[in-house]
Amino acid sequence: MSEDFPNTDIITLTRHILSDQLRLGPAATGDLTLLLTAIQTTSKFIANNVRKARLINLIGLAGETNVQGEEQKKLDVLSNDIMINALRASGKTAVLVSEENEEAIIIDDKFKGKYCVVFDPLDGSSNIDAGVNIGTIFGVYKLQPDSKGSISDVLRPGKEMVAAGYTMYGSSANLVLSTGFGVNGYTLDSSLGEFILTHPDIKIPARGKIYSFNEGNSMYFHSPVINYLKSIKFPANGKSPYSARYIGSMVADVHRTLLYGGIFGYPDDKKSKKGKLRLLYEAFPMAFLTEQAGGIATTGKGRILDIIPTSIHERCPVFLGSKDDVNDLVKFYQLHE
Ligand code: AHG
Ligand code: MN
Ligand code: MN
Ligand code: MN
Repeated sequence: MSEDFPNTDIITLTRHILSDQLRLGPAATGDLTLLLTAIQTTSKFIANNVRKARLINLIGLAGETNVQGEEQKKLDVLSNDIMINALRASGKTAVLVSEENEEAIIIDDKFKGKYCVVFDPLDGSSNIDAGVNIGTIFGVYKLQPDSKGSISDVLRPGKEMVAAGYTMYGSSANLVLSTGFGVNGYTLDSSLGEFILTHPDIKIPARGKIYSFNEGNSMYFHSPVINYLKSIKFPANGKSPYSARYIGSMVADVHRTLLYGGIFGYPDDKKSKKGKLRLLYEAFPMAFLTEQAGGIATTGKGRILDIIPTSIHERCPVFLGSKDDVNDLVKFYQLHE
């Protein structure tokens, strides 16, 4: 068959996760496969609403404030409802943690399963009204042995997650997923209604040429970050300076970092003492994906995936991306010890 002939053997996300399940042999129950199927359905549903948002009055504020003190957008609330309903109905979850809910949701016995899902239903809210990329971020833990589902099942280090991923709603919807065996990217073919494997085995380049920080916060930054940024903007030995790219949607900034390399950072600073990004449903899933793609994710002082959370909405500094770039930043932290 000629090379430009359409592919008749497409790999859908469902096919791909089923083949992973087969690889695990008879020990695999298929529960994680069904949970991931529920999650991909929520992504299609949210993507559909994001596309139509301007037309069906889904732009703007919902009128409530969340536990972080942020005004919720209509799409934040709608995406959250979509996630909670689908995850509960899947029968595969026991505990849910959402950016938009102050308390963890413990699933009633009738629907209880053995997984816990932490999620940011809509990431990048400030970009909604301008039609700029936004996304959904999720991480999955398995219940601890003998647990019926409680908050202690999610107050665990990110390295204990069994799966993590995000869906970016951009020029196309892209779902990026890891179940601990590398990272794969899928693109929604909206005519088929299926996510198709388009980015198998994503690996972050060892070094990139892009830095992604909100430099508007520079006056609050601590010296390791200021000095690192100076080093890449005014490099020695005739090297070229790095390019700046910052979208303000973590999903989009991390997606570009996974594909092109470079460094994404949201530091702690003199104003935001613990940084801005939330550990459980922003930092952990993105750190999990970064490491699975061969990169590094750190607070500047230690590995993000090793942190033991003490509350579900806590925040942490985040630097992630290409191994060499993140190591360069860490050296500036070590100089200040
Ligand atoms: P969310 O919209 O889920 O509240 O997350 C917003 C986060 C994240 O997407 C992004 O990286 C960061 O906020 C941007 O913050 P600044 O506007 O302070 O740069
Ligand atoms: Mn928010
Ligand atoms: Mn977010
Ligand atoms: Mn959000």
